[in-house]
Amino acid sequence: MLAGKKILIGITGSIAAYKSILLVRLLIKSGAEVKVIMTPAAKEFVSPLVLSTLSKNNVIIDLVEGNEWANHVMLGRWADVFLIAPLSCNTLAKMAHGLCDNLLLAVYLSATCPVAVAPAMDEDMWHHVATQKNISLLKEYGNKIISVEKGELASGLFGEGRMAEPEDIVTYLTEHFFRTHELTGKKAMVTAGPTYEAIDPVRFIGNHSSGKMGFALAEELYLQGADVVLITGPTHQQIVYKGIQVIKVVSAAEMFTTCDVAFDTSDIAVMSAAVADYTPVEVADEKIKKKSGTLDLLLTKTKDILQYIGQKKKKGQFVAGFALETNNEEENALAKLQSKNADCIILNSLRTKGAGFGADTNKVTIFDRSGKSTEIALKSKQGVAKDIVSYIVQQIHAE
Ligand code: CTP
Repeated sequence: MLAGKKILIGITGSIAAYKSILLVRLLIKSGAEVKVIMTPAAKEFVSPLVLSTLSKNNVIIDLVEGNEWANHVMLGRWADVFLIAPLSCNTLAKMAHGLCDNLLLAVYLSATCPVAVAPAMDEDMWHHVATQKNISLLKEYGNKIISVEKGELASGLFGEGRMAEPEDIVTYLTEHFFRTHELTGKKAMVTAGPTYEAIDPVRFIGNHSSGKMGFALAEELYLQGADVVLITGPTHQQIVYKGIQVIKVVSAAEMFTTCDVAFDTSDIAVMSAAVADYTPVEVADEKIKKKSGTLDLLLTKTKDILQYIGQKKKKGQFVAGFALETNNEEENALAKLQSKNADCIILNSLRTKGAGFGADTNKVTIFDRSGKSTEIALKSKQGVAKDIVSYIVQQIHAE
């Protein structure tokens, strides 16, 4: 997402400036072009030499260096986004009131690109009415504010005011400035993870699905511009993008009712959850006590969500299902494509090394209704999600 993007980083005088070293490194690693400018005060907190080495560009601090004048206008025009991180209380106040006594402020005032700021200060300064008014002014000017975090502060106190972590800033930039428009205006729903079918108040029937593939798909659809709702069974996965709506469910029945509602307004449905096929006929009110001999558990079939939405889909809705197989893979996948009336089935074979539950990688084949099959080689689940979403984008645009 960030490959080739031009990011101008402004560093001001704050202890949190040490985090900008990692920030520059992360941005460079993700393929972005980075230029760094600093206020004179920032030099006290972090070395320009480290930043110029990491960013592969000279760090500019003064408007005039020797006989040369730094072209602040062109810096703001070069960048796709100007990120000021950390933003000190002092620079915030100057930005809010249009002061221009250093290069960073001159770049800010002349920038034609979007501007984001990541404030960093002590809690009492952060809560001061003047600071809050200045933050409101910056928002009013159209600048994006990356929320401060709660935690240990340089003063030794604990509270609000810490600069966001570099990883979170990179996520913020990606989400707010660099989503593509392939799926803008489209609504997508994704199911992920396992379902848990209760036996009694302490036990359930579940499976080993980690939810990784579904979460990666939800994130990729979102990065391509779609509005995304992720309906997930119990997992440890976390969605990094705040704009994705996450609905947590537990049982197959809950997943069914949630999907039923969400599908009515969806253009795309990607059903990657490992939904339980059977659920106990009765859930015991109390913990089932151990007895001698065997225990019979009577199970009844759950509703097949993919089949249900496949039957009710209307023209213009695209439905992708998964097939998790251990044998007769292709034959079973093709049977599911038909019986569930999906537009495509993504085959996941548990016999493939590096694929399946819990792994960070996957290898899949997509079968569609035209009889075509598309193989996606073994790669990270993020990489596979990218390829599956490009495939979906192609199918949708071909309609
Ligand atoms: N699926 C679903 N609801 C269910 C069961 C499965 O929506 N109650 C969906 C899965 O999310 C997946 C597809 O159906 O997209 C195929 O799931 P899979 O477990 O491979 O197959 P099943 O239909 O459950 O059949 P079987 O277990 O016999 O292979």
